[in-house]
Amino acid sequence: MSVDPGRLRSLLGDRTARVALVLGSGLGGLVDALDDRLRIPYGDLPGFPQSGVSGHSGELVWGRLSGVPVIVLSGRIHYYEAGDAAAMRPALEVLKALGVEILVLTNAAGSLKPELPPGSVMLIDDHINFSGRNPLIGEPSDARFTGMTEAYDGALRGHMRAAAESESLELASGVYMWFSGPSFETPAEIRMARTLGADAVGMSTVPETILARFLGLRVVAASVVTNYGAGMTGAELSHQETKDVAPKGGAILGRILAAALPRF
Ligand code: HPA
Repeated sequence: MSVDPGRLRSLLGDRTARVALVLGSGLGGLVDALDDRLRIPYGDLPGFPQSGVSGHSGELVWGRLSGVPVIVLSGRIHYYEAGDAAAMRPALEVLKALGVEILVLTNAAGSLKPELPPGSVMLIDDHINFSGRNPLIGEPSDARFTGMTEAYDGALRGHMRAAAESESLELASGVYMWFSGPSFETPAEIRMARTLGADAVGMSTVPETILARFLGLRVVAASVVTNYGAGMTGAELSHQETKDVAPKGGAILGRILAAALPRF
């Protein structure tokens, strides 16, 4: 299934964007910060992957953030919804066809470090894909052997750090480890993730990063921490907590992005 770029282009008119943002669970508030918004429900784009997860809306929004034209995907499908790691491929392909060069990925994540409390924001320096899944499985071209040495673009990460500093906002950085979900991790899995070098865990972003690099997009990604990993505090984890806490860190991430975008 693919999305017809001509259909999206005709709905957007003369609106273009070099940067696209994918909003994670509970981070949809960033849409309100866009000027000159044009909202297109995914349902108006045949073939566009739809997420059924609460806390995710389902629309593509064009607008300006700090004067920079952007396309925002408010809501993304996850691997755990259909068992397809390449579920976001049609969405990323149509962005690429429209001229997008930079993909900003955001997510809600569990923290593995006491010094990274709920509400904080972590720039993703690198990831661990321990899932055994890869969205390029089945891709026939040699392009499937996509290099991941600098999956998260060094220059764009530098712009994010500089933006956070200019806004006097704290921005941690670390390694994100992908778990398929949808159940949360066990305490033993969280201890394993820490041992393997992860700083945060979550259920998204890694397949999109692999697909984006395959398509030649530059990627920058950030996690909003909504909880400590399972077993770190004794509290049970819930999606309600994710949705409740994400907007706090999401507001900080939104301010960092607004300051970073003009530098991209
Ligand atoms: N684990 C996985 N995904 C998550 C978590 C978590 O603890 N918190 C938010 N998304």
